[in-house]
Amino acid sequence: MKVYAINGSFRNEGNTDIIMEKILEGARSGGADTEKVFVDDLNIKSCQGCLECRQEGICQQDDGLTDIVRKIEQADALVVGTPIYGNYMTGQLKILLDRLMGVISRITYVPGGGIKSITRLEPRKRNIVTVLTAGAPTPECADDALKLFRRMLGSLNNGGFMEEIIAVGINPKGAIVFPKEEWIKVAEKYRVPDTEAYAEKAMARNREVMERAFKLGQELLKK
Ligand SMILES: Cc1cc2nc3c(=O)[nH]c(=O)nc-3n(C[C@H](O)[C@H](O)[C@H](O)COP(=O)(O)O)c2cc1C
Repeated sequence: MKVYAINGSFRNEGNTDIIMEKILEGARSGGADTEKVFVDDLNIKSCQGCLECRQEGICQQDDGLTDIVRKIEQADALVVGTPIYGNYMTGQLKILLDRLMGVISRITYVPGGGIKSITRLEPRKRNIVTVLTAGAPTPECADDALKLFRRMLGSLNNGGFMEEIIAVGINPKGAIVFPKEEWIKVAEKYRVPDTEAYAEKAMARNREVMERAFKLGQELLKK
């Protein structure tokens, strides 16, 4: 059982990374092989808009994308994460998704009207978890990124589940696992009146996220 994880964040051991690692830990506890990449390390060029992928089902630029496509295809489960940047995903992850557009979500026109999204990849059942992290206090900031995730990754699961983790209110690196004294410092910085209550609330919220991440990691293995 192979789990392939793609992280759109730039921060190694940042919030997205920590949550994704917890998911992978859950998957490994059930015997899965896991691999994680940061999109920023892949040196993927941006889409040039030639639209050849619509016809060919693969991008015509030769910069290592085919290797990523192979890993996605061979994966039994996928984890895709991004911090929210400007109410969306990071630019790097969007570049990768643009490059994968014709591969995983080729649009074809149905005779008589309508459109259908198809994929050139092996139609293997893949469970998918997406991770979205944000500084904002409420999850609506992830709506637009989620819309694209659901549309594109929805071509890959073939009956597998697609679940999302939206972790909010976490700006500093590693805030998702901050201990109480760190949250108190954050509260003081923002001049929150009841620093104790603020810290307790943030920690309880984050604990829930991390527990769910581990559980979803275990569930990724369900066939
Ligand atoms: C350039 C930039 C833009 C951001 N835009 C948003 C935003 O629109 N909404 C939000 O809630 N958080 C925003 N954030 C905060 C990040 O989503 C947050 O810090 C997240 O936890 C970072 O995840 P990471 O540690 O995995 O990199 C932004 C951060 C940066 C650096």
